[in-house]
Amino acid sequence: MSLFDKIPNNVNLSDDKRLQRALETWQPDFINWWREMGPSGFQEDQVYLRTAISVSNDGWAHYDYVKMPEYRWGIFLTPPEPGRTISFGDHAGQPVWNEVPGELRNVLRRIIVTQADTEPASVEQQRMLGLTAPSLYDLRNLFQVNVEEGRHLWAMVHLLHQFFGRDGREEAEQLLQRRAGNPDTPRILSTFNEATDEWLSFFCFTMFTDRDGKYQLASLAESGFDPLSRATRFMLTEEAFHLFVGETGIDRIVRRSAQLTKMDPNGDARKHGGIDLPTVQKYINYWFSSAVELFGGEISTNAAEFFSTGLKGRYREKEKYQDHAALEGFYSLDVFENGRIQQREVPLRNALNEVLRDEYVSDCERAVRKWNRTIAAEGVGFELKLPSRKFNRKMGIYAGLYFDTDGNPISQEAFEARRDNWLPTPEDRAYVRSLMVPVVEPGKVAHWIAPPAKGIEGTPLDFEYVRGEGVNRLRGNA
Ligand SMILES: [Fe+2]
Ligand SMILES: [Fe+2]
Repeated sequence: MSLFDKIPNNVNLSDDKRLQRALETWQPDFINWWREMGPSGFQEDQVYLRTAISVSNDGWAHYDYVKMPEYRWGIFLTPPEPGRTISFGDHAGQPVWNEVPGELRNVLRRIIVTQADTEPASVEQQRMLGLTAPSLYDLRNLFQVNVEEGRHLWAMVHLLHQFFGRDGREEAEQLLQRRAGNPDTPRILSTFNEATDEWLSFFCFTMFTDRDGKYQLASLAESGFDPLSRATRFMLTEEAFHLFVGETGIDRIVRRSAQLTKMDPNGDARKHGGIDLPTVQKYINYWFSSAVELFGGEISTNAAEFFSTGLKGRYREKEKYQDHAALEGFYSLDVFENGRIQQREVPLRNALNEVLRDEYVSDCERAVRKWNRTIAAEGVGFELKLPSRKFNRKMGIYAGLYFDTDGNPISQEAFEARRDNWLPTPEDRAYVRSLMVPVVEPGKVAHWIAPPAKGIEGTPLDFEYVRGEGVNRLRGNA
């Protein structure tokens, strides 16, 4: 473990001078990118952050105040499992690879770059959010997510530099050059170009979009390319917190919404400065339908190739499945043919995106059930609902077709007629944005969201999670 090196790491970086030099050359470019595209207005503030310092289960992280540009972004892989073998696909049972097999070089590079690109993209999408934080607690959590997405970029760039030579170096540079939402140099995946400029969207992003990341990382953690497996395994440890931020953020919003709904004779939370539950539902419809696209096409030869080559497994491939070849079975997929939904049997390997999407959807359903328990506990009769995965799709076999939120096929006219009931309107978005005023007094929380259940790492809720110029400026303005 080399914690005090220029680049903290547990990969014996100092033994590989070539790699060390390459990464030390990339480091200042990364810092420049962070200063330019990282959280706007808080680069000099002291933030109470968690920093990864080891991969052991007990005490892998350290908490202290740090200025974000001085955060110790490190490279950590989980320890190699002795005798680990490839657990699925055509090479099942063979020893895992510690070098990139020549014939898989291009496809593996594409997988790593696509994952890597999402990490800085989300930091860019969220860079203005700090200016309207609903509390110091939330401000700190935003920054925690941001610095860890930065570390995830480091994890992927390490693989590019170590295993892909010159191509890898070029990819690593380009990862710092693309910009979320820039029409000339956009990020690779479209969801990562959408604005996340208010906090309801931020919580939806960390709930739904980051959760796609969890399932992608988990299937890469099964990879036969061992360094990728070990890197993503450790990323998942950090990712759990990001999902916590999203899920509890929405839970806190619906709690407050329910409380304000009760106060109004007509049940309108907006009259009391809250986000009404129907608007929360529209945001869920929007962000869920955008995030499910990230799993890729329902019938996919790419997915089949990733699996057969042993690069990307199913979610918990080893524990959950007996047949690791996935050559025999079929997946029965809803397809739209002759004017109606019918089931078609798709060879399992071609349906692996859908298999992973199933895991994701049921995880999201679990969260919605939890939010509904919160609403019910406040005594309000309103139920949130996850829309059908067919609803509002731009890619895959449901693109260009129209479905209601229950997944029933409808005409385009019927969809357009109800669009404003299902998806946020410009007025909804303007209303939500109008609520976004910063609240940065320790212990205080914006009116439209309930306080969190407890502080970070045993700290009291009035803990000063962020302090410095940026926060002081907001106090001056507030
Ligand atoms: Fe990440
Ligand atoms: Fe994340």
